[in-house]
Amino acid sequence: MNFISIAEKTNSGNVIIGDGVVSKLSDIIYAENENGTPSRVAFVAGENIPVETIDRAISSLTNANKSNSDKATSNTYKADNVYKDAITYKKFTIKEGEKNKNLQAVEKLSEELCSFGLTRADVIISIGGGLVSDIVGFCASIYHRGVSVINIATTLLAQVDAAIGGKTAVNLKAGKNLVGSFHQPRAIICDTEALKTLPEEELKNGFGEISKYQLIADTLISNGLLDYFSEINLDGSKISNIHSLNLNEQIAICVGMKLFVVSQDEKESSQEKTRERQVSRTILNYGHTLAHALEVVTKFKIGHGQAVAVGLLFAAELAYDLGRISSERVVEHYQALKAFELMATELELARFDKVEESQIVELMKRDKKRVKSDDIVFVLDGENGIEQVKVKDEAVVATLKTFKAKIN
Ligand SMILES: NC(=O)c1ccc[n+]([C@@H]2O[C@H](COP(=O)([O-])OP(=O)(O)OC[C@H]3O[C@@H](n4cnc5c(N)ncnc54)[C@H](O)[C@@H]3O)[C@@H](O)[C@H]2O)c1
Repeated sequence: MNFISIAEKTNSGNVIIGDGVVSKLSDIIYAENENGTPSRVAFVAGENIPVETIDRAISSLTNANKSNSDKATSNTYKADNVYKDAITYKKFTIKEGEKNKNLQAVEKLSEELCSFGLTRADVIISIGGGLVSDIVGFCASIYHRGVSVINIATTLLAQVDAAIGGKTAVNLKAGKNLVGSFHQPRAIICDTEALKTLPEEELKNGFGEISKYQLIADTLISNGLLDYFSEINLDGSKISNIHSLNLNEQIAICVGMKLFVVSQDEKESSQEKTRERQVSRTILNYGHTLAHALEVVTKFKIGHGQAVAVGLLFAAELAYDLGRISSERVVEHYQALKAFELMATELELARFDKVEESQIVELMKRDKKRVKSDDIVFVLDGENGIEQVKVKDEAVVATLKTFKAKIN
């Protein structure tokens, strides 16, 4: 089996990437955690996750259980007392769809875990995309004041982004991701075999985020990314052309970049750089300000990663109009998207010809990530690299008008 293992140096959990790597799940479960050896494992999967993906995860544990009980009945092992007791497991399902990513889902799962008898020494395994890892991760962070969670990420977007970094959240009626926590998973499994059943649109969402990593790479490199890559045994020379790598390597490079940013700013604690910290986690929001507004105005017909792809182009155009970057750098943004075959469909889906620019501006202002200010806070490229910048409404509206004309 060809796989890449990233042993994280700080707190973010080790990541295993490759075709079939879910078979390694049992090794991670059986390894003792800070609360002792688990005796129960809860597998929590999204309702639409293909059954074969869930079964592969469960088989990893049942095969290990069997081999451990075989060892238990063998005199040699009994004498050496090296066998372990079989771990009890149970499968749980959660409803998918953003409208179900709420506190009721967390409460329901918590009650079910309680009935199962899950304790702090035990482990929860989330199986699904970002929606599932958000609900399960948040539940794991508060159940018994925190239990271990392992994320089996089954979408490309979750493998390169949502399942990594410890941010968890559910939605309120008032908006998306408004209640959440920081709870680092013990490990993240990115099995590329799971992606074989993923619909084309969902793959594109993942590539939207991957193109973001390509465009933030230079800023991260000037802030020490390559040293970090050598610490975690990733090849820094592969960063410049992510699209030309095989999928396992693409995921590994993006995971490495996300871990680097998280290692610098685990809790998105400040919008500003400090002497100790070189980059703020807000760099990961590059392209997201317009993306969030586009998701709302298109009533979520455009997927998140696809909206990010369009948001990246807008961020480049705005930075250019503000005199922050050259026209060559704008072209690099268009090229980055083309390299991942993101452009025609995304621009089509993002059309907002019937929507006033002022409405988009209002949606951008509602973005919870903005700092206290009347201006809109963007993440923009410039001579200091990609950073947070306050931009006046008029400037945003002007670029929105030209951008709208371009994509309509
Ligand atoms: N916590 C974070 O840091 C973070 C970051 C980004 C996004 N998110 C959250 O992640 C969510 C989006 O995640 P997502 O893009 O992974 O979407 P998702 O979890 O909603 O999954 C998208 C669709 O793909 C299906 N699916 C998942 N895996 C599959 C597979 N292997 N085969 C076939 N179908 C499969 C799901 O059933 C679903 O219908 C949002 O709720 C967003 O807020 C969180």
